[in-house]
Amino acid sequence: MDNTDLNSEILDKMTKVCICKGIPRSTIKKVIREGATSIQEVQKATGAGSGPCGGRRCTPKILGLLEELSENE
Ligand code: FES
Repeated sequence: MDNTDLNSEILDKMTKVCICKGIPRSTIKKVIREGATSIQEVQKATGAGSGPCGGRRCTPKILGLLEELSENE
């Protein structure tokens, strides 16, 4: 692992995707890598989208990550 990977990993841990539930991007990426392929699966595995905003703020970000990570496969 080089420094760029390390930095982005730290950033992923610090960046909250679901603000309501305090779920970091690293957690969302983890469940996608472990096989979640849809927004529903990610939400079920992480609890994202169940906060007071009803997923209004995090859903677009999760969709973006799903797209981004499935492209790399
Ligand atoms: S930010 Fe995810 S439910 Fe509100």
